[in-house]
Amino acid sequence: MVEVALEFTARDAGKAVVRGDLIIVIDVLRTTTSIITAISRGAKSVIPTETLKGAYQLHRGHPNYLLIGERNGRKPRGFDFGNSPQELASDKIRGKDLIITTTNGTKALTGSKQAKWVLNGAFLNAEAIAKKAVEISDEDKIGVSFVLAGEENRFSLEDFVCAGAIVERFPRNHVQLSDETLAAMLAFKQIKNNLRENIARGQHAKHLIELGLGRDIEFSCQIDVSTAIPLYANGRIRMLKNHS
Ligand code: MLT
Repeated sequence: MVEVALEFTARDAGKAVVRGDLIIVIDVLRTTTSIITAISRGAKSVIPTETLKGAYQLHRGHPNYLLIGERNGRKPRGFDFGNSPQELASDKIRGKDLIITTTNGTKALTGSKQAKWVLNGAFLNAEAIAKKAVEISDEDKIGVSFVLAGEENRFSLEDFVCAGAIVERFPRNHVQLSDETLAAMLAFKQIKNNLRENIARGQHAKHLIELGLGRDIEFSCQIDVSTAIPLYANGRIRMLKNHS
């Protein structure tokens, strides 16, 4: 039996690390969706950085790396790309190393980095992540924890519902769900037939719509369109090859 737990915000990533769990970080709008897209489109690696200052500093040492990310949803000064997954579905990132800094998503990632296994999940790769997470946790005899990015230390609808989509894809008799993960699955089941419309009702989605970035919501709500498993290890996210 694999025990499955959930932390609602980036701030609580450390609790999942202390449990020794495999961690699935989720920031549907838009960090993990962007990372999955970039890695699927051939980016060599993605380096999550917590602060803008840290990102600029790292870039000075590696001027050939691309800078991507956002603050308040917008592309910061001097960056090559914003945090739009659609922009990152571009050939310009093929073979490149990327530095990413975002408001909440990269905090959830860096807060999880002491865990042995940190996977990037989103609706895009829900099925693939569910399968791989159970496979690894079976082998290593560890639990699975979701770390949701949330929004400035608050609950985020889209990350919670996405955790539910992944939970729904776990083999039913093989997992022991916490109340939080059961609730996430029930929430997903409730809205899965009108996913985009319901996700668009959330606070962060509304903000993106105001910025004219509504198409990113549509893109981020595609389910099971990618088999990519981006693994964060040794400071970089790369495509997970066969690990056994
Ligand atoms: C974040 O890290 O808070 C988000 O990914 C923000 C966004 O790009 O919309």
